[in-house]
Amino acid sequence: MLGKILSGALLLALIAGPAQAQTAVANVTIDTSKPGVEIDRHIYGQFAEHLGRGIYEGIWVGEASPIPNIRGYRKDVVEALKKIHVPNVRWPGGCFGDLYDWHDGIGPRAKRPVRVNVHWGGVTEDNSFGTHEFMNFAELIGAEAYVSLNVGSLTPYDSAQWLEYMTSDSRSSLANERRKNGRAKPWKVQFIGIGNETWGCGGNMTAEYYADVYRQYVSVLKPYGTLIASDSNSDDYEWTEKLLQRALYRHPPDVPTTLAYISKQPQINMISVHFYTFSGNDWGKKSPAVGFTEQDWARSMERTWKTDEMIARHTAILERHDPKGQVGISFSEWGAWWATDKNRPSNLYQENTLRDAVIAGLTLNIFHNHAARVRMANLAQMLNVLQSLILTDGEKMLLTPTYHVFDLYQAHQGATLLPTRVSAPDYALDAVKVPSLSVSASRNAQGEITLSLVNIDPVRAARVEIDLQGRELRGASGRVLTSTAMDAHPQFGKADPLEPVALEVPRVRKGLLSVTAPAKSVIALKLR
Ligand code: AHR
Repeated sequence: MLGKILSGALLLALIAGPAQAQTAVANVTIDTSKPGVEIDRHIYGQFAEHLGRGIYEGIWVGEASPIPNIRGYRKDVVEALKKIHVPNVRWPGGCFGDLYDWHDGIGPRAKRPVRVNVHWGGVTEDNSFGTHEFMNFAELIGAEAYVSLNVGSLTPYDSAQWLEYMTSDSRSSLANERRKNGRAKPWKVQFIGIGNETWGCGGNMTAEYYADVYRQYVSVLKPYGTLIASDSNSDDYEWTEKLLQRALYRHPPDVPTTLAYISKQPQINMISVHFYTFSGNDWGKKSPAVGFTEQDWARSMERTWKTDEMIARHTAILERHDPKGQVGISFSEWGAWWATDKNRPSNLYQENTLRDAVIAGLTLNIFHNHAARVRMANLAQMLNVLQSLILTDGEKMLLTPTYHVFDLYQAHQGATLLPTRVSAPDYALDAVKVPSLSVSASRNAQGEITLSLVNIDPVRAARVEIDLQGRELRGASGRVLTSTAMDAHPQFGKADPLEPVALEVPRVRKGLLSVTAPAKSVIALKLR
């Protein structure tokens, strides 16, 4: 709430922390004279899979539902998503997409086949949310569609037919079928994922095999949109290397050819990466979503910081194969994955706490600072699954701390990255030692500068001296998200303990601005 100001007793309580915790001192320099690349708004993309209550109840309740809806889509959810300008949504999976036949989700709903969702709990899937429901939803919230094709169990022909069905303006039978099913105008499919986790649930392929499959798909899909190659599993750099070696070009640019029609342009527009945060690096030992220890907190932060190294190493491989920078990275799945509630098997529903907000702020800062290559990302997942933006319970809905971070950071979407330098103490606990402060800065088309700051230390506040180089700094205003408990989280029907509040910012003195970042906080500052 903008009216509330974090000041006085509350601020003192938050920055003082335990008696032994002294305030850390940090310096941040922003250089306005060396603007960088644009922070692509698609970094703020979302992922919506047929999993748990992500689609059904989360997005889709049907026209007959007592829950207020717009043509079957939850009204409260649509409004909340529009408010933060969600730029793209990835659908239908995930692993669900690797067994998805698009024919199941078109035509009269009552006649659609019922399948078993084998990846997620063996629940029945009545396909009432299919192509038309997804494409119209994306249009309704003003987002681009990112369709993940089933490479794991269908053929290039099936994918080509689906894309023709969605995007053709011709008089072909497929385009006419779409018209008959209620959509006259073709849709635009901006992003096309050629497979999902093809090393795992998406086909169990080797990198070499997938690279050849990719080449085959390109030959039929080239006219359709931005083509995204299936992910390397987090830090599987060998996958990226082999994929680029074998599939980046139809014909390597340094090998002469007499065949003029062979393009020397890359045939991969983006490579994708999937990476999840747990507490530590062991998939089998996940931390609870609430009621966790400081050790869990520290290990989660350490794991999230790995995103930085991972992007740098995938980028280094790209630099060798694509020195002109034509190929981007799509971080198509990211977010926190906590221990699943045993009472809700397989649906990956989890509470969203202050820890999730700090992870979101840190990850988005890392993406911004690598914006030269990271051109897209998708939070896993948008609603009711893993690190969601929104949770629902029947007709009730709440905005998570992660949603608030996406809201706080909105001004970065499409803005120009400004280089920053940070000097701050590490946050250390047991074997963990990571930088305590994460920042990113950008300037939008109106010339406004936004600085986002994340203090990941759960105990120590930080006094941050901000120096704006190349432009006079006259003042700032900002909002902060924080709380006293590491696992503070919103609950249905109760006041939100993590709604961002206005931050009291002192006057600029001798050209420097001194801001106190409470322990475990996310801040967005507008610099004047
Ligand atoms: O987001 C949940 C699952 O995580 C996705 O289905 C899969 O792609 C990944 O392993």
